[in-house]
Amino acid sequence: MKFRSIKGTKDILPEESGLWQHVEAVVRSVMHRAGYREIRTPVFEQTALFARSIGELTDIVTKEMYTFPDRSGESLTLKPEGTASVLRAYIQHNLGEQAPLIKLSYCGPMFRQERPQAGRLRQFHQFGAEALGSQSPQLDVEMMLLPLHVYGELGVKPLALNINSVGCEKCRPAYKDKLIVALTKVFDRLSPESQARVQQNPMRVLDSKNEGDQEMTQAAPLIKDHLCTECRTHFEEVQSLLHATGTPFEINGRLVRGLDYYTKTAFEITSSALGSQDALAGGGRYDLLVEELGGKATPGVGFAAGLERLMIVLEKTGAPAGTMRGPDLFIAAIDDPSRRWAFSKTQELRKRGFAVETDFLQRSLKAQMREANRQQARFVMVIGETELQAGAGRLKHMVGGEERTVPLGELESALV
Ligand code: HAM
Repeated sequence: MKFRSIKGTKDILPEESGLWQHVEAVVRSVMHRAGYREIRTPVFEQTALFARSIGELTDIVTKEMYTFPDRSGESLTLKPEGTASVLRAYIQHNLGEQAPLIKLSYCGPMFRQERPQAGRLRQFHQFGAEALGSQSPQLDVEMMLLPLHVYGELGVKPLALNINSVGCEKCRPAYKDKLIVALTKVFDRLSPESQARVQQNPMRVLDSKNEGDQEMTQAAPLIKDHLCTECRTHFEEVQSLLHATGTPFEINGRLVRGLDYYTKTAFEITSSALGSQDALAGGGRYDLLVEELGGKATPGVGFAAGLERLMIVLEKTGAPAGTMRGPDLFIAAIDDPSRRWAFSKTQELRKRGFAVETDFLQRSLKAQMREANRQQARFVMVIGETELQAGAGRLKHMVGGEERTVPLGELESALV
């Protein structure tokens, strides 16, 4: 029997993991500088948490969740996104009592049973952040700038930032009624998928990828033109802060996003290096969600960004160099006594903070040198009877090729 990984999942192999670690280090650094502290939540939660937050009628909840009963019969779901779990933890542990504004970041696997294609997996990884406790449009913009800073430090471009306001519970109901009237007029010419959404989730019809739907809804009213004063002022301030920070953006009145919890700001960052799945990151404000999940009314805003899609963009546009780090030293040993010496020296130098490798396969000297090259070792030292007797060996710099004699007791200082 041959085992294969599950469709839509991906092994991150050693030749790729260096880049992943590099990207994660950049993410951690950007989050740290902006004051976001990491939160790690479990990979599964009660199913109702996601249904309640993401929305009962969304594609994620109706079609894409990995939901299963555990042995006690409780319905559990592998998390399809991070926001719901982060808010559940925020409420459960009363984090709001520690400070009026809580800024959290996360990075980890998410699960959605979508049709796999380039940039769309069933297990994928996101990094993201949530800020809880402030209504300030500054935080909406901070959520756009956090992923943009990460992309900037990785040299990713060109990127497009699309923003919209999806209104609030005051202005959205009246707008939705107007939209339903407009959509009903063209109902017969909409795709079956959009037809099904007209009554229950009409705003999603506007961001349908179907060309016919797009044509039919060209004259449909857009929420950004029907905002209440509070939402309009907020949206204008977001734009003015984007201008002030020199961040290019487009207003896209059709941007709705696939999750129902948003109020006011919604945004997406796309890359033309990606195909049809071109969203690198998305997010927005959700001022009602904490209360909806049983907490005290607390405004919030956040974003999440796909790591696999970022890797695709990095590969296409030239990944950052120097992500493969070889050992500082490879000790090649010629006979049994020197192999024993090499083994204990390797362990000793590792304890002192160096990455050191030696041969474990009793290979010929030539094969060991080939291995040191393959591993991209910075230095190589060959040890045999002569070196052990002399108490010194030749240390070779593998890039420059220079060699010098180093007393074995001073190997550590020679590596610095
Ligand atoms: P989302 O737009 O569903 O938002 O996902 C964010 C990002 O995750 C996408 O832009 C994409 O890069 C990546 N992604 C989503 N699905 C897949 C998939 N099947 N395969 C590969 N990558 C994928 C959220 O998840 C919200 N929780 C964002 C948020 C946080 N809003 C407020 N706070």
